[in-house]
Amino acid sequence: MSELKDIAIIGAGGFGKETLVMINQINAINPQWQVTGFYDDGVAAGSIVAGLPVLGSLDALKAIDKELAVVVAVGDPKVKRSVVERIQQSNLYFPTLIHPVATIGENIKAGAGCVITAGCRLTIDIALGDFVLLNLNTTVGHDVHIGSFTSVMPGVHLSGYVQVGEEVLIGTGASVLQNVTIGNRSVVGAGAVVNKNVEPSRTVAGVPARSIKRND
Ligand SMILES: CC(C)(COP(=O)(O)OP(=O)(O)OC[C@H]1O[C@@H](n2cnc3c(N)ncnc32)[C@H](O)[C@@H]1OP(=O)(O)O)[C@@H](O)C(=O)NCCC(=O)NCCS
Repeated sequence: MSELKDIAIIGAGGFGKETLVMINQINAINPQWQVTGFYDDGVAAGSIVAGLPVLGSLDALKAIDKELAVVVAVGDPKVKRSVVERIQQSNLYFPTLIHPVATIGENIKAGAGCVITAGCRLTIDIALGDFVLLNLNTTVGHDVHIGSFTSVMPGVHLSGYVQVGEEVLIGTGASVLQNVTIGNRSVVGAGAVVNKNVEPSRTVAGVPARSIKRND
């Protein structure tokens, strides 16, 4: 058996705990990771979360002097980008994690730090940027591109040729119809059906989706 690699989880909240479960389930099939604990600015160092210690704030990662894998368990795209920018240092690296019951088709490309959770299904000719989250049971059709730092919440359906920009949040259960482009930093409300392009920095919601506000 190959040696386990240390991995730390950034974010000791609900999604951090779910990420721990995912890593445990990856290990159950193919032991790869030794989870060292959590880093979180909002939870006191020394606290125990899901049986593991909170090892410190994000600044504590600057002092890490040996190679450490890090998974950023932060759903909000803007916060996720700022966390990644804050913690860059040469000893840290960001593997892409894929749950063993995700279905990965053909010609699927993913950058660093992506998280593809249980039940996701990706078909063919799909490109994900860096730090893309595909949360539980999301389906991604052919020729879909998703930009860096975008988070796709559970049960979303992205149809063929959909283009999603950077730092986009797609809410739980939304459906995006074929050929639609969603601009950078936009938000799609939970349950929306998006049948037209979404301009950058807009929030859309409803069936069919309509713009409900501009994001600052
Ligand atoms: C769309 C969304 C971003 C709007 O949040 P917000 O900016 O705080 O807006 P508000 O809650 O103030 O709602 C503004 C209006 O939009 C409506 N609205 C909010 N979310 C909606 C949705 N998903 N679908 C339809 N209408 C929605 C509200 O009822 C409100 O209408 P009103 O002015 O007539 O009362 C948010 O409701 C949402 O759906 N987020 C996704 C959350 C998610 O999927 N989380 C996953 C966790 S795993």
